[in-house]
Amino acid sequence: MAATHSEPDSRRRQVLINAVSAAVMAPSSHNTQPWRFRISGGALELHADPRRHLTVIDPDRRQLVQSCGCALFNAEVAVRAMGYVPQVTVLPDPADPDLLAVLRPGEPRPPTDEDRALMRALPLRRTNRRRFQARPVGADEVAALAATAERPGVWLVRLDPEGKRRVAQVIDLADRIQYGDQAFRAELARWLVAAGSRRDDGIPFVEKEYGSSIPFAVMRALRSPDLGADFGRLEEELVRGAPAVLVMGTDGDDARAWLAAGQALEALLLQATARGLSAAFLNQALEIGELRDGVRAVIGHAGHPQMILRLGYPAEPIHHPSPRRDLDDVLRILD
Ligand SMILES: Cc1cc2nc3c(=O)[nH]c(=O)nc-3n(C[C@H](O)[C@H](O)[C@H](O)COP(=O)(O)O)c2cc1C
Repeated sequence: MAATHSEPDSRRRQVLINAVSAAVMAPSSHNTQPWRFRISGGALELHADPRRHLTVIDPDRRQLVQSCGCALFNAEVAVRAMGYVPQVTVLPDPADPDLLAVLRPGEPRPPTDEDRALMRALPLRRTNRRRFQARPVGADEVAALAATAERPGVWLVRLDPEGKRRVAQVIDLADRIQYGDQAFRAELARWLVAAGSRRDDGIPFVEKEYGSSIPFAVMRALRSPDLGADFGRLEEELVRGAPAVLVMGTDGDDARAWLAAGQALEALLLQATARGLSAAFLNQALEIGELRDGVRAVIGHAGHPQMILRLGYPAEPIHHPSPRRDLDDVLRILD
């Protein structure tokens, strides 16, 4: 077959394979990596992988689709960096809700400086749950992040100190509720992995400790009655003291909006990485309906909060980068 392919076709197929290599570096809820890719007819299909659905914390698949949106944005960045304009169609088949997007390399176009900067940041981005430096994050920095993340129907709010204080309280409450729930603990335990494990998904224990003395590394800790309160207190304090806390939200609250939120989130995170900033997520407050309403009330923005992030300049690097699955496990090439 190879001999019958024109040079541009094989080049475009290679572009799409490289795009998948970039896509899989995306963040995902509990590092579930809930995606599958197919290259067929010169197009890259992004499918949700329902076997990797977190049914307890994410019953409506919001975070699953957001995670796939992050992967989609990475693929777009890679296609641009390789000199093509990505053409993306989201949710092309109403009969197949797992087919989230189709991407084709469109017109050739030299990458811009921004395309190159985002591509360089892509393999460097990591969730950093540790305490950040006290160094402030300026309004100009946040404006640059917002500009990169901008897309229709997605909005971003930076919390003022009073907003941080109130959202931090909601996060503390969310931790206490979630860690008091056996089903939540069991689901989390399935996705926490020990250092040195051969697993290629899940969150290394030591990263979930946040550089604190709360011993997530010990499975026993997940059964401790104090864990929710300890963890809640720690996160409340980290949020109150964070140099910047951002809430990203969307006008709608369906798969289309969640994909867009994922794309915007990854754009923001790559721009942050390019500027030397790190981010950690605090989505527990959005995983419980009434608490999500509480966050909505604090920020006073119409629509649906999708993500809570704290940002700052890292004080220390992460110790165990989260693993990733091999391309062979996630990609099928049909032509
Ligand atoms: C939609 C989404 C929600 C997330 N929510 C949380 C969260 O609430 N708490 C947390 O510690 N990490 C959260 N994460 C971060 C993931 O755990 C992290 O991306 C994953 O473990 C892979 O690690 P990496 O980001 O360092 O590559 C979230 C990531 C995504 C994409």
